[in-house]
Parts: sequence; structure tokens; C-alpha cells
Amino acid sequence: MKIGIFDSGLGGLIAMRAVVETLPTYDYVYIGDTANLPYGSRSREKILQYTEKCIDYLFREHDCKIVLMACNTAAIAALRYLQTEYLPKNYPDRRVLGIIIPTIEAALETGAQDIGLIATVSTTNSKVYEKELQKINPNIKISSVPAPLLVPLIEYDGDKYAKDIIKDYLAKLPPVKVLVLGCTHYPMYKDLFRKMLPDTKVISQDEILPEKVADYLARHDEIRTKLSHGGTKTFIFTDITPNYVATACRLFGHKIAFTKTEL
Ligand code: DGL
Repeated sequence: MKIGIFDSGLGGLIAMRAVVETLPTYDYVYIGDTANLPYGSRSREKILQYTEKCIDYLFREHDCKIVLMACNTAAIAALRYLQTEYLPKNYPDRRVLGIIIPTIEAALETGAQDIGLIATVSTTNSKVYEKELQKINPNIKISSVPAPLLVPLIEYDGDKYAKDIIKDYLAKLPPVKVLVLGCTHYPMYKDLFRKMLPDTKVISQDEILPEKVADYLARHDEIRTKLSHGGTKTFIFTDITPNYVATACRLFGHKIAFTKTEL
């Protein structure tokens, strides 16, 4: 059986590349819901509906034992429902892992009391990072900034505008010890964030996910032992355009072959 990776679009390919580098022998299937991108500016109901369709497709058609939900926006809208209702009812022996809790753990491990978050509008509006962090440590102060322009900038190769736009977003953030990049796409600009905030620890999800997945699999024999080791990688998108193809190759790091599917 395979490891599925789900994102609203192409940003999750950065996380997938990192996971594959760390755990290269498994079989992977990536689905990016490019037909419905961006999730970050949609309603919770829509995000939930799209996410369930994609996850269901990975389980039903691609024999995934476990799905890594790389998308922050989707995890916030749908992970709890998927884990507590959808899986027990439909696939009780399979798993969906989110990215929010591993990111929060990484932020807490720094010991910082003032943490910044930059993410999509949907993620910052949900206040989920704030709630989860303060559940563990009520003294932590979180400042969040929505950055709706960064996803289209990355999807449409707008790198030359990135510095100015990021500078503008960072101006809205008070000084913080730690900055969480709370969106699949933002690791593309992690070096830029680090350069612009030399005294801040920038948490990039592509750097934490591989270790968290390896750790999870090491602790869950019932999942790990069912995974096949063919080293294959399948890439599926719900819509394909020449721009998506070019961006996907850029984010994954080399040329990849795509399949289009209607869900
Ligand atoms: N993948 C989404 C996330 O991590 C951002 C892209 C979108 O808005 O669809 O939040």
C-alpha cells in the first residue's frame, strides 16, 4: 500500500520532495486539487467538501494506507472530521496525518514565548494555531499575518516581486523570536524570510514533516508494515495547465509526469 500526499495545489510538492528524500523506498501518490485552488480564500464548507473528495480518492483508487495532509488550510477545515467521523466509518484501519500539530510542536520546542504566524487568510482567520499553542502554553503570545498574495506569486512564478511583498507583510508583524511559515507554498521563500529576519527562527514545514512522518511510522507497525517499497511516485492533479506543469516541476525540483483526474 502507498503513502498519499494531499495539497490544495502544488505547494505540497515541496513537502513531498523532502519526505521522499528522507524515506525514498516507499510508494507515493500526490494529489493536488488544482481545479479548486486556492482553498485559502474559500469557505470552510467548500474546503471540507473538496478535501474529503481528494482523501477519499486516494484511499479508494490508489490503495493509500496513510495520507499526509500537507495543506494547512485543508487540515484546519477538515482534519478533525476526517479523523473522528470519516475514517472510523469508511476506512477504520487507515490514517490521515495533519501538519498543524507537528508545526506547533516544532515552535514549542524552541522555547520562544512570542511566535509569529504567516499563512493564508483562511488559516489566520481560523485562529487554530493560536488555540492549539495556547492550549499547551497559555503564556505564549501569537501574532499572525495573512499573506494572500504569496500563493499566487509562487504558482505564477512571481519570484521577482517576492521580496517587496514579504517586506510589506512582515511590517505588520511585531518582533518575534520564532516565525511559523504556515502554508505549504511558503518554504519556496524560506531563505528570503531568513535573510529578512536574521534574528528570528523561521519554521519551514518541509524541514519538519519528514522527521515527523519517519517518527510516526517507527511508532506504528500496523501502518508501516503494510507499506510497499517500490519507490514509485505518482502525481495527480484535478486540472492541468502549462503553467501548473512548469510550476510543479520547479517546486518538486525536477521534471515529473502528471495524470489529470476528475473527482
Ligand atoms: N496549500 C494551502 C495551505 O497550506 C495554501 C494554498 C491555497 O490557498 O490553496 O494553506
